[in-house]
Amino acid sequence: MVDWVDYKRIASELQVKEEDLKAFIKKGENLPPTQEIEDNLSTNPPVKPVFSENDVTIYHDNFITSSALEHETIDLIVTSPPYNLGIDYSNHDDTDEYDDYLWFTEQWLTKAYQVSRSDGRLCMNIPLDKNKGGQQSVGADITKIAKDVGWQYHSTIIWNEGNISRRTAWGSWMSASAPYVIAPVEIIVVMYKENWKKTSGSRENDITRDEFMAWTNGVWTFNGESKKRIGHPAPFPRELPKRCIKLFSFVGATVLDPFLGSGTTLIEAWDNKRVGIGFDLSEEYCQLAEKRLTDTWLKPKLI
Ligand SMILES: C[S@@+](CC[C@H](N)C(=O)[O-])C[C@H]1O[C@@H](n2cnc3c(N)ncnc32)[C@H](O)[C@@H]1O
Repeated sequence: MVDWVDYKRIASELQVKEEDLKAFIKKGENLPPTQEIEDNLSTNPPVKPVFSENDVTIYHDNFITSSALEHETIDLIVTSPPYNLGIDYSNHDDTDEYDDYLWFTEQWLTKAYQVSRSDGRLCMNIPLDKNKGGQQSVGADITKIAKDVGWQYHSTIIWNEGNISRRTAWGSWMSASAPYVIAPVEIIVVMYKENWKKTSGSRENDITRDEFMAWTNGVWTFNGESKKRIGHPAPFPRELPKRCIKLFSFVGATVLDPFLGSGTTLIEAWDNKRVGIGFDLSEEYCQLAEKRLTDTWLKPKLI
C-alpha cells in the first residue's frame, strides 16, 4: 500500500494544480491518466534506527513518509504534533497556512491509522484553539480530520497546565468591543481504530487504584515542562505520557510517538515496561532523546 504521495512533483509532471490533484485523490476519482499517477506514487526506502536499546527505538525520519513501521503493529500512540504556532524547531517550519497545516495533520493521522492495530489507540495532545494570527478551532478541526481518516472518537481530557502568562492578551480591556477569551488549557483527544475494548496484548495492568480513580476524571492538572531545562522548544512533561500509557495500554504494549522531540514518551514507555518507538525529523532532537533516555537509565529520578 502507498503511504505517501509526492503531490508537488506529480502535479507538476501532470501539469495540474496541486490542490486539484489532492481533491481528485481524496474523492477517489480517477485523474487521467491514472497509470501515470500510479507510476509516480512513491514510498521511501526503509531507514535504520539511530538508536535501539532496552526495547526503545528512535528513527531520525519523517514519520509521514517513513516505511520503517509495518502496518497494524502499534498498540498506543501518545504524541504532541507541531502546533503551527511559529515555534523555532530545528528541522520543521511551524508557520504553515492553516489549510496546509490541516493537510499535514491529515497525512500524519492517516499514517498513524495505518500502523495501528485494530484495537490501537491514539492520545493526541493538541491545542484547544488558536488565538494569535486569526482565531481557529484547532482542537475541533484536528478531531474532525482524525474522524474523517477513520479514527473513532472516545473522549477528551482537559489538561490544565496552569499557564497564566497567556492572560496578558486581553483584546479590548474592559470593553465589549473585541475582548479575548483564552482558556489556559490544552486537550488530549483519545481515539481508537476499530474496537475500544482491548483484546490483544498481555492484559497485565500496572495502574494503582488511586491513579485509576484520579486519571479517569477528565480534567488533569499538572504543570508544563521547561523548554530550557529540557533543551527542546516544546516538550511536554513526563506526567502526560505516563498517565496515557498506564491508563490506556497493557504492560509490554508497543507505544509510538511519531513526533518524538526530546523523547519524553519513550522515557515513560521504558519506565513503565512498554516497547517504545519514536520518530523525529531533527537529528539534534533524536540525539537529545537518546541522551535523556540513557541518563534516565543511569539516574531514573532526576530526568
Ligand atoms: C511538539 S514537538 C514534540 C515534543 C515532545 N512531546 C517532547 O516532549 O519533547 C513536535 C516535534 O515533531 C517533530 N516533527 C515535525 N514534523 C515531523 C515529521 N513529519 N516527522 C517526524 N517528526 C516531526 C519536530 O522536530 C518536533 O521535535
